[in-house]
Amino acid sequence: MSIVDKPPAYVWFNGSIKPWGEAKIPILTHALHYGTAVFEGIRAYPSADNLNIFRLREHLDRLFYSAKIYYLNLNYGVEDLIQGTIEVIRSNGFRGRTYIRPIVFVGFGGIGLDYTGFPIDVAIVAVPFERYFHMSAVRAKVSSWRRISNEANPPLAKAAGNYLNSALAKQEAIRDGYDEAILLDQRGYVAEGTGENIFIVKDNVAYTPPVNSSILLGITRDTAIKLLKDLNYEVVEREVERSELYICDEAFFCGTAAEITPIVEIDRRRIGSGETGPLTRQIREAYLDVVEGRNKKYAHWLTPVY
Ligand SMILES: Cc1ncc(COP(=O)(O)O)c(C=O)c1O
Repeated sequence: MSIVDKPPAYVWFNGSIKPWGEAKIPILTHALHYGTAVFEGIRAYPSADNLNIFRLREHLDRLFYSAKIYYLNLNYGVEDLIQGTIEVIRSNGFRGRTYIRPIVFVGFGGIGLDYTGFPIDVAIVAVPFERYFHMSAVRAKVSSWRRISNEANPPLAKAAGNYLNSALAKQEAIRDGYDEAILLDQRGYVAEGTGENIFIVKDNVAYTPPVNSSILLGITRDTAIKLLKDLNYEVVEREVERSELYICDEAFFCGTAAEITPIVEIDRRRIGSGETGPLTRQIREAYLDVVEGRNKKYAHWLTPVY
């Protein structure tokens, strides 16, 4: 799943474009040992006449607030990273669907947990990337692992260490024969997938867990809410019970990597007709129209690369 078969020729590392082989980090990089990094996942999509980065500024704003939660002070601002992102795609000459991974990490400064005064390194990597899920609709299981909470690892920060929780849930789901896991929050309400938010649909109303259900505030989630409202659907952000997953008419994951992915089975219960439902189909099409530049209303969400 989502394999990068060849590294890109160039990356952006601490302020300039470098050949892949020259962007090296020490084995004692703090983030490698303790997960002290924050990152983003962004996509660029070809339109009729360009390659456009989707909601780049919103992703970089989230990168900076993730960094703030962990006291990581970057030597760069949002504008620098916007330019860096454009440069790294241009230097590799990518013209097709591209995934972009900016990462801010605590570098090498010692071996203890106190990273005061350690270097804060910043890299931006871009790779060609088509689909995250290789199936058109997924089967999911509710994980036996609970989602991290604000009392321990704040889910609102997109921090590297948080993904140990996602990795446990993902590995369990795959080993149990499913495509993806759904995590419950510490109270037992539905939170999200391992790397994507979730919506369910009941009687033509779309429901998605709120900020206090230990979710990452997804940019695709926000996009989906706006597009569903444009399509005249009612959208409700509220706690979702586990059993509501089983009796909903439709369910879908949404995220930068996952885009809009229908969920057709949860815990061996068929969802709705067992096929992609009408609302999910509509929102997926509306989403692709926006990211691929066919909906002029949201042209301001696209940053042209060339
Ligand atoms: C845990 C988690 N939830 C939700 C999302 C979806 O966020 P976005 O739509 O901003 O990509 C992601 C992906 O970044 C994620 O890793």
